[in-house]
Amino acid sequence: MSNDRYLTFALGKGRLASKTLELLEQIGITCEEMKDKDSRKLIFVNEDLKLRFFLAKGPDVPTYVEYGAADIGVVGSDTIMEENRRVYEVLDLGFGKCRMCVCGPESARELLKHHEMIRVASKYPNIAKDYFYNKKHQTVDIIKLNGSVELGPIVGLSDVIVDIVETGSTLRENGLQVLEEICPLSARMIVNQVSMQMETERIRSLISRLKELC
Ligand code: PRP
Repeated sequence: MSNDRYLTFALGKGRLASKTLELLEQIGITCEEMKDKDSRKLIFVNEDLKLRFFLAKGPDVPTYVEYGAADIGVVGSDTIMEENRRVYEVLDLGFGKCRMCVCGPESARELLKHHEMIRVASKYPNIAKDYFYNKKHQTVDIIKLNGSVELGPIVGLSDVIVDIVETGSTLRENGLQVLEEICPLSARMIVNQVSMQMETERIRSLISRLKELC
């Protein structure tokens, strides 16, 4: 009976979604209509395999999965840490590798050493708080931004930033550097806790087929 039920995937929009589709294709799961870059459609169905896919903003993916609107989600581990939702993290997909770092001008290195009260700009206030308060035991002022966080130290909004570093070129081009590394990051598969019980076989089989590729 459960085979009549659609399994729903929520994919973080952008590079992660394309990579995820490539990976799924390798295990025979395709969704042709999703490849049309010009389409404004939000949800895509594979009738034969009883699968549905939708694209969402990265930070919303764990929300859809926690509430069961999606059974499965693919999103960066940065988002999983930041959102802290009740979901099972089942697989490291091995792509989207980058690092969460404290970055800033060279002159800010001293401020970090001496545990001074500094201003930290980030799209990830929870990760920044956890790192400075719980790991470094340093009291800081955290300022939430929504993008182009590198501007923070350049225009004098903050002393440092907590942000993702992939190639390092955004930092280089703006005269900033990695001052401390917080953790490595990559794309992860997450599963709704009830779906994991109700659809154990389908989800386990999917995970084991993907595991062989990752
Ligand atoms: C991310 C991140 C850095 C940049 C790092 O930003 O916040 O700015 O990529 O990549 P790099 O090390 O390869 O240069 P994103 O492109 O997601 O845009 P945003 O600044 O608007 O968040």
